[in-house]
Amino acid sequence: MRGLFITIEGGDGAGKSTQIRNIEGFFARKGLVVVHTREPGGTEISEKLRDILLDSGNTEMEDVTEMLIYAAARAQHVREFVMPSLEKGEIVVCDRFVDSSVAYQAYGRELGDMVAEVNHHATGGLKPDITFWLDIDPKTGRERVSKMGEFDRLEMEELDFHYRVYDGYKKIAESDPGRVKRIDASKSIDEISKEIETYLQELCSERGL
Ligand code: TYD
Repeated sequence: MRGLFITIEGGDGAGKSTQIRNIEGFFARKGLVVVHTREPGGTEISEKLRDILLDSGNTEMEDVTEMLIYAAARAQHVREFVMPSLEKGEIVVCDRFVDSSVAYQAYGRELGDMVAEVNHHATGGLKPDITFWLDIDPKTGRERVSKMGEFDRLEMEELDFHYRVYDGYKKIAESDPGRVKRIDASKSIDEISKEIETYLQELCSERGL
């Protein structure tokens, strides 16, 4: 039986890491094998591409180059790690996936429809079973991140960029409500965890897990 592919999305400072731990705990308590991974990254090659993408010294990087490197990292990650894990029946929890490219590159960088098209090739059509979008206002998210230290290349972008990304996530969530669950990330950690667990329980019941 194929496992479950769960992705978690959101702007900077949305609290994704905490919720990933919560999701892992949920499945571990059920005695299921759960693995967590991230994009860009998750394999040796993809992590090397991640370093290029996030290097704040790479100021001359073209938007199309950026989009293609995210897609390249993803193509490797899907084939080398995500698909094999799902085929073993594991639960894969992934910090960011294609929705990040649509939000950041199609909307943030304003590259439009080609982003989804390129990513269709990168993923071979793989889609998450469920996606949690931790919805945080970009300004609040930024304030949270700036308390945590240095900005990477994407985080250094103007607030306008982050509002376009936010708008992208909103459109993704509206266009695919069956898969993408919007979670109000201004709520307490406990409330967010409970909401996510309710969705996960529903999904497990549907799949007989
Ligand atoms: P990361 O440190 O993982 O950020 P966060 O903690 O916010 O998840 O860095 C990933 C950065 O890359 C983040 O700013 C979002 C961006 N990104 C894209 O622009 N496109 C993509 O396809 C992905 C996966 C990430």
